[in-house]
Amino acid sequence: MGDTAESYYANVVDSFGDGVIVLDNAGAVTHMNPAAEEMAGVSRRLAKGKPFKDIFKGEDALNEMVAKTVATGMSVSDHENIVLKRSGRITPIGTSTSPLLSSSGERIGTIVLMRDLTNVRELEAAVRQADRLSSLGALAAGLAHEIKNPLGGINGAAQLLEMEFPDNEDLREYIRVMLKEVQRVNVIVEELLALASPGRLKLGKVNLHRVLSDIVLLQKRATGGREVAIHQYFDPSIPAILADESLLTQLFLNLIKNAIEAVGEGGVVKVTSRVLSDYAMNQIGERRARMVAIDVADNGPGMAPDVLENLFTPFFTTKSKGTGLGLAICQKIVSEHRGMIKVDSDASRGTVFTVMLPLIQ
Ligand SMILES: Nc1ncnc2c1ncn2[C@@H]1O[C@H](COP(=O)(O)OP(=O)(O)O)[C@@H](O)[C@H]1O
Ligand SMILES: [Mg+2]
Repeated sequence: MGDTAESYYANVVDSFGDGVIVLDNAGAVTHMNPAAEEMAGVSRRLAKGKPFKDIFKGEDALNEMVAKTVATGMSVSDHENIVLKRSGRITPIGTSTSPLLSSSGERIGTIVLMRDLTNVRELEAAVRQADRLSSLGALAAGLAHEIKNPLGGINGAAQLLEMEFPDNEDLREYIRVMLKEVQRVNVIVEELLALASPGRLKLGKVNLHRVLSDIVLLQKRATGGREVAIHQYFDPSIPAILADESLLTQLFLNLIKNAIEAVGEGGVVKVTSRVLSDYAMNQIGERRARMVAIDVADNGPGMAPDVLENLFTPFFTTKSKGTGLGLAICQKIVSEHRGMIKVDSDASRGTVFTVMLPLIQ
């Protein structure tokens, strides 16, 4: 019976997702569960009988904590600032140590509990980032509203001024500069508002190909005097999808504009639509949904790794007159439509942005 109970408890400990290490009164390992084996990077067969500090060599904070309990019998709980630096990987762990007592209350060893906090830390970082963005967003929206009114005033006054001096070419040139710069501030403000406004989708049936070809038609004339070819390849079997048409227009306009801005004289931009059959959004609870993919490809210079990393960060731009808000807005629109956006970039081939949207009709 004793035997069965023992193996039952050993099984309980082994099934534990957190690392459990049992030490004797001298601080040598008597038991170690699989989760602890993984954290230590040593099998329990090798660890058995060895001092704890030899197994976690170099992990000073952890060793100090364990040594304290081994020496005094005092428990140290929920120490969350320990970092394991095993096998080149840094793992944040939460650790508790407590004395192991026999049924008569005698101290016969130490129990070390270790919890891998990698996922928790990642989640915390994501929440912090979201918090920062949402309070920043509220601030930005307020600021943008405040700027719009005086901006309208400046714009109106400049236009009146232009009419006052029809013959003074120098003065008119200054005024044109003013109007152009006012227009630029206006774009930044509009983009900020788009990014900061809470997403409320005005859903309707959207003919993606019409949206795309309208944008292509307009952008063909907006290549800044360069010879840029824009080709479209549409899969005619794609039906109308349920989406917010003006947001999708904004989304693809931003992507196509970026592509045109990226290519030089003689550049080629390709806009392609295709159905991703049987593509499943494999988030838990998400049912399998067919998706439609739109690629915006260019044969520009591609992107350096540090650009790729910051692409979707608001205000990140490598352009002298860029706002750095275009792709942040794209990402917001795509996620509001429960889709995905990804990028593939290579200096020799150029850049492809792919937007995947659920094919809900
Ligand atoms: N098709 C592309 N090819 C190369 N770089 C790109 C492309 N699209 C975006 N980028 C890079 O991403 C940055 C951010 O883009 P975006 O958010 O639209 O802001 P903006 O266009 O105002 O700079 C750009 O400044 C550019 O460096
Ligand atoms: Mg842009």
